Amino acid sequence: MKVLVVGGGGREHAICASVKKSEKVEKIYCAPGNAGISQVAECVPIGAMEFDKLVSFSKENGVDFAIIGMDDPLVGGIVDKFEEAGIRVFGPRKNAAILEGSKAFSKDLMKKYNIPTADYETFSDPDAALAYLRTAKFPIVLKADGLALGKGVLICGSLEEAEAGVKEIMQDKKFGDAGNSMVVEEFLRGREVSVLSFVDGKTIKIMSSAQDHKRAMDGDKGLNTGGMGTFSPSPFYTKEVDEFCRKYIYQPTVDAMAAEGRPFVGVIFFGLMLTEDGPRVLEYNARFGDPEAQVVLPRMKNDIIEVMEACVDGRLDETNLEFCDNAAVCVVLASDGYPVSYDKGLPIEGLEAFDGKDDYFCFHAGTKFDENGNIVTNGGRVLGVTATGNDLVEARKKAYEATDWVSFSNKYMRHDIGKAIDEA
Ligand code: AMP
Ligand code: GLY
Repeated sequence: MKVLVVGGGGREHAICASVKKSEKVEKIYCAPGNAGISQVAECVPIGAMEFDKLVSFSKENGVDFAIIGMDDPLVGGIVDKFEEAGIRVFGPRKNAAILEGSKAFSKDLMKKYNIPTADYETFSDPDAALAYLRTAKFPIVLKADGLALGKGVLICGSLEEAEAGVKEIMQDKKFGDAGNSMVVEEFLRGREVSVLSFVDGKTIKIMSSAQDHKRAMDGDKGLNTGGMGTFSPSPFYTKEVDEFCRKYIYQPTVDAMAAEGRPFVGVIFFGLMLTEDGPRVLEYNARFGDPEAQVVLPRMKNDIIEVMEACVDGRLDETNLEFCDNAAVCVVLASDGYPVSYDKGLPIEGLEAFDGKDDYFCFHAGTKFDENGNIVTNGGRVLGVTATGNDLVEARKKAYEATDWVSFSNKYMRHDIGKAIDEA
């Protein structure tokens, strides 16, 4: 089978590494991919939003199965394009990817189907939003409706901050059209957990839990980023939490999408807050998390292609999803200055230290080959250094040791990924 993976970050590297293990697969293409992905797949210089080119490439090269890693093409309808061309594809159609593409849609869905989430109001008129905020309790959360690279969420401690937020999102349009509407949401306190799942339109199978670290600096300080590191499983995701979420969140979400005539096929990522009053949905994503995939997929025992085909064929109920009884930690090596401004094109040394090791992975997020064929930095998040271990403490120790194996001149990382493990 020939497989095309669409995307070019650490998540897609982790997906390609899992696909590589499948006995069913003879060839992997990745568009556009990156320097690290080129070790496991043939990278094709087509952007993830160039749907027609991706479809033509797939037809010309006999691609049997496409896997869409990224949110933008999913929300833009790439799956519909592949289906129209008769190519099997893993991911939600446009009418289901809206679960991630519009926060107003997902909040209304949760309200309609009684899925536990923070109280909220939606606004498309900035003056109405301001009038509401003048009577609100703080802190409060403002969310641009559409996709905003994980940055369209503002936590406002005062009316002044909220007024500035309305201006940024709705008037200055800092996140573009994503700010045409805005959700204003109750601030929730608790621990965050990321739960990824496979869905076939009616059946949902949950993967092992994970926790991300979204802020740029130690102690959860600094700006929100795409994610600075992860661990899996989360010790806070207890049996009780799991039972609650299965009953009130996971299956109800899948059933709600089906009832709305938007059957969801692909990965649903549940961003949960474990509050004193029980788990609440903070957000849905329509794809694997990044860097959650880097700690969850290396622990999965199943052949990923078999699971994805079961989703596409609507027979996921026959699949028994299994995870190793171990743990994984991923520490992101970023470019100093991320997520604001940073240098690129800097040589990376020491990558060969990961070769031939089963329990260490160096997933490339932002790398490329320079004109001399050397691997250089090419983004804010550069590498996801990941290790597995018998437990979280061991995996964390190994991952941090491995961060010393690689160097580039503006290397930056958080030193407290997985600190919460000690509180468990
Ligand atoms: P989101 O993109 O919706 O996951 O939001 C990004 C981050 O903002 C989350 O990971 C949380 O840390 C925080 N956040 C979002 N919604 C809330 C909320 N209602 N209460 C507290 N924090 C939130
Ligand atoms: N790590 C969070 C996300 O992928 O959205």
